[in-house]
Amino acid sequence: MGTVSGPYTGGPSGPAGGQPGAVPGEQTGPTLGAPPQPGPQVVPADPHTHGPAESGTAPDQAGTTLLQGISQLVTNDPAVGEGPLGLIGDAAVVLDGDRVVWVGPRVSAPAADRALDLGQRAVLPGWVDSHSHLVFAGDRAAEFTARMAGRPYEAGGIGTTVAATRGVERTELLRLARLRVDEMVRGGTTTIETKTGYGLTVPDETTSAAVAAESGVDVVTFLGAHVVPPEFDGDPQGYLDLVCGPMLQAVARYVQFLDVFCEDGAFDGAQTRRVLAAGQRAGLGLKVHGNQLREGEGVRLAVEHGAVSVDHCTYLSDRDVDALAGSTTVATLLPACDLSTRQPPAPGRLLVDAGARIALASNCNPGSSYTSSMNLVVALGVLQCGLTAEEAVQAATTGGAAALRLPDVGFLAPGARADLHVLDAPSYEYLAYRVGMPLTRAVWRRGARVV
Ligand code: NIG
Repeated sequence: MGTVSGPYTGGPSGPAGGQPGAVPGEQTGPTLGAPPQPGPQVVPADPHTHGPAESGTAPDQAGTTLLQGISQLVTNDPAVGEGPLGLIGDAAVVLDGDRVVWVGPRVSAPAADRALDLGQRAVLPGWVDSHSHLVFAGDRAAEFTARMAGRPYEAGGIGTTVAATRGVERTELLRLARLRVDEMVRGGTTTIETKTGYGLTVPDETTSAAVAAESGVDVVTFLGAHVVPPEFDGDPQGYLDLVCGPMLQAVARYVQFLDVFCEDGAFDGAQTRRVLAAGQRAGLGLKVHGNQLREGEGVRLAVEHGAVSVDHCTYLSDRDVDALAGSTTVATLLPACDLSTRQPPAPGRLLVDAGARIALASNCNPGSSYTSSMNLVVALGVLQCGLTAEEAVQAATTGGAAALRLPDVGFLAPGARADLHVLDAPSYEYLAYRVGMPLTRAVWRRGARVV
């Protein structure tokens, strides 16, 4: 049987833990009861040798692969393991192509064409990051620095990125988006949503949508209603004529969802309704950026329109919490954004206790949250938003899947997409317990080992 580069010995830099980034070795042949092999094949992962177009698009090899040496498997399926996370100790998983075909205790594992030993590490479903803005050029480091010196975050900063994005060629936008997808995958994220919203003309939004669709993400959202661009200053209705008409028509073939930023400095309640109605007519799923910088109408409008999610939810009234709890709309919390914009953490504990469905996502973008680390987001869910580690892991996996209406990701059981995240830790609790440490050891995306 093949093994990982070394057993888990207490951390990524433990003496027998192998080099950071080393990935499981493997061996073909009989998988159970086989004599010990001389040593693992250790293949150093070079993050620069694979691009997102290749990452996880096809399984590496034909036949089945048995993964074992799993100290704790998070299946998210209570029918196959313990508790809400469906935990299995000393577990094994069998992959066939891009699917999981078996999970259970190692002692009952079926034979497979090849086996890998993961060295007594925890395995989780890959993160489902249901909110990001990856198609952009330029950065806003100066704005961030000014914010850390006391200047508040405002929707208006988006204009800086719009100008930078309009100023580069499509090929450059695609190159940048692919680098960001690759970065996300290297952090354990295997399902990615991203949005347009930094083009804000018909051609620029169309390019952004096409680039997003080509960049290696799973879901693309149209966010023409991000802010009113400078050429429509003082004429938001004129801009919305464009968004709800020709722009929506032009991007429709690339996108699955429509989103609108309902906030002071972006769009008010009536304008938000108009955008959501256009999305409904176009047959798109709906999302709302709401209640990010203050209480407002975003949550209520999202719920009223049956939106699949309302994202941010940092400032909620009791009425908002009740509305979410009585709905199917997922409250997507973005704690890295709250942290980076010096807002209070979104009230995760309150929402879960009220019975609302939550997701955790990175909101990776150059203005309010320039990180794609879902390991960090999960830790912040626990440390800042009052979630348990179990709730935070669920929110970043099944919660994200619900916020994207994807039925085959976010869990590990027969039929699930073969998206796995191997931690350099014995259990999922370490994500918050060892906050900031490089805990991602290996990643499979659609059956292909990508880290
Ligand atoms: O989700 N709130 C609106 N959009 C992004 C921020 C975009 C930016 O500042 O560039 C967000 O935080």
